[in-house]
Amino acid sequence: MKSLCLTASVLLHVLITATLDFEAHACKPSGKLRGKKPPPGQCNTENDSDCCKEGKLYTTYQCSPTVSGHTKAVLTLNSFEKGGDGGGPSECDNRYHSDDTPVVALSTGWFKKKRRCFNNITISAYGRSVVAMVVDECDSTIGCDAEHDYQPPCRNNIVDASKSVWEALGVPHDDWGELDIFLLF
Ligand SMILES: *[C@@H]1O[C@H](CO)[C@@H](O)[C@H](O)[C@H]1NC(C)=O
Ligand SMILES: *[C@@H]1O[C@H](CO)[C@@H](O)[C@H](O)[C@H]1NC(C)=O
Repeated sequence: MKSLCLTASVLLHVLITATLDFEAHACKPSGKLRGKKPPPGQCNTENDSDCCKEGKLYTTYQCSPTVSGHTKAVLTLNSFEKGGDGGGPSECDNRYHSDDTPVVALSTGWFKKKRRCFNNITISAYGRSVVAMVVDECDSTIGCDAEHDYQPPCRNNIVDASKSVWEALGVPHDDWGELDIFLLF
């Protein structure tokens, strides 16, 4: 009986793990978007920002990977100031934000149509953690237009963060750009 229970619990565990695993990978692309060449003077390439390329196909997403206790994500660098590479003002409050404050933009699926606006999320990497406020969307559904500074649509697992976040994590300046992190919503 005991071994039967054990077997059942192992099976259950396998089933749950498989389900979680499936959900984490269940975020499928929602479409493709063809890149347009940025008009002259558009698309700021500072801070490793990517510019759309004429004719290139970009994958779009309405969803993001399922959130768990320690959701894996990719940290990127963004300016939330006027004239920065973030494009227009932040979507949550229609304002610009100082890059000296820990603010972030989330991929569309995690942004949840503004439902995560002003939430404070915990970002962990390098054995350090920083709390940052959600103020904007990193749009995974559109891009390559003026509003997005002619940058491609966001990937679905992005936390696009101000320099303040990178500093707080103690990431050496030379390594700024892209970093694997864990998120707690
Ligand atoms: C590049 O990043 C630095 C540090 O956050 C920021 O001061 C600067 O404004 C950014 N440049 C652009 C064009 O966003
Ligand atoms: C998040 O933190 C900021 C700064 O500490 C605070 O002003 C804001 O109210 C917090 N948001 C929530 C939803 O608690």
